[in-house]
Amino acid sequence: MEIKLKVFRYLPNNGNKPHYDTYIMQVNPTDRVLDVLEQVRADSDPSLAYRRSCAHGVCGSDAMRINGRNALACKVLVKDLGTNEITVEPILGLKVLRDLIVDMDPFFEHFKSVMPYFINNEPLPSDGKERLQSPEQRERFDDTTKCILCAACTTSCPSFWANEEYVGPAAIVNAHRFVYDSRDRAAAERLQILNDQMGVWRCRTVFNCTEACPRDIQVTQAIADVKKAINSGKLE
Ligand code: SF4
Ligand code: F3S
Ligand code: FES
Repeated sequence: MEIKLKVFRYLPNNGNKPHYDTYIMQVNPTDRVLDVLEQVRADSDPSLAYRRSCAHGVCGSDAMRINGRNALACKVLVKDLGTNEITVEPILGLKVLRDLIVDMDPFFEHFKSVMPYFINNEPLPSDGKERLQSPEQRERFDDTTKCILCAACTTSCPSFWANEEYVGPAAIVNAHRFVYDSRDRAAAERLQILNDQMGVWRCRTVFNCTEACPRDIQVTQAIADVKKAINSGKLE
C-alpha cells in the first residue's frame, strides 16, 4: 500500500527551524511504524534520528506521537492506524534534542526521586533464604511491575506539560510498585515524597496516562491508590 509519512525534523545548530519532511512510500499493511522509519533511513535519509533497541515492545525506547497519540513505534501496525496518512512526532513536554529524540533526563530524575528500588535493612530470615510473600501480597503490586519506563504516560499528561516539576505518572507507578511490596520497608518515606503539590496532588485524574500506556497498566488507579494511602495513613 502507498502511504504519506510526515515526520517531525529538528537539528539544532544547523540553522533549520523545526519542520516536517514528507515521504510517499510503498509499505506492507503489517509493517510497524518502526519498520517505516527504518525504511526512510535505508532508502531516503539516513540522518533521521530516533531511539530504538529491542523492536519488540520491551525496552521502552521508541515512544513517540503517532497520529497524535503516544505509542511505541514497534508496536503500532500501519494497518491499525486506519489511514494511509501517518504523522510521527516526538513525545511532548520534554526538550527535543534532535528529530524524534527528546531529553529523557528530567523524566529519569523524577523516577529516581521516588527511590524505585527495594529497601529492607532488617536481617534476612534465620534460614538465610528468601523473604516470603503470599500470592495475594504479590498480586497487590503486579500491575505496576510491568512498567518499561517508556514515558508515554508522563508525556501525555497535561499536568506535566504545564509544569515539568510534576513528578509524573511513571514515577508514581514505580513508587507504587515498592510501596505495595509487603517485603519493602520504605513505603512511608516514599509516600512522604509524593505528598507534595508536585507529587500525586498535581494529578487531576485526566486518564491520558492510562490510555497511553503500552503495557496496559492501570496508571490512574495506581495514582489513586497512592493518594488514598497518603490520606488514610495506611496501605490497603
Ligand atoms: Fe510507559 Fe506505562 Fe510505564 Fe508509563 S506506566 S512509563 S506508559 S510502561
Ligand atoms: Fe495526568 Fe494521568 Fe493524572 S494524565 S492528570 S497523571 S490521571
Ligand atoms: Fe524497544 Fe520499541 S524498540 S520497545
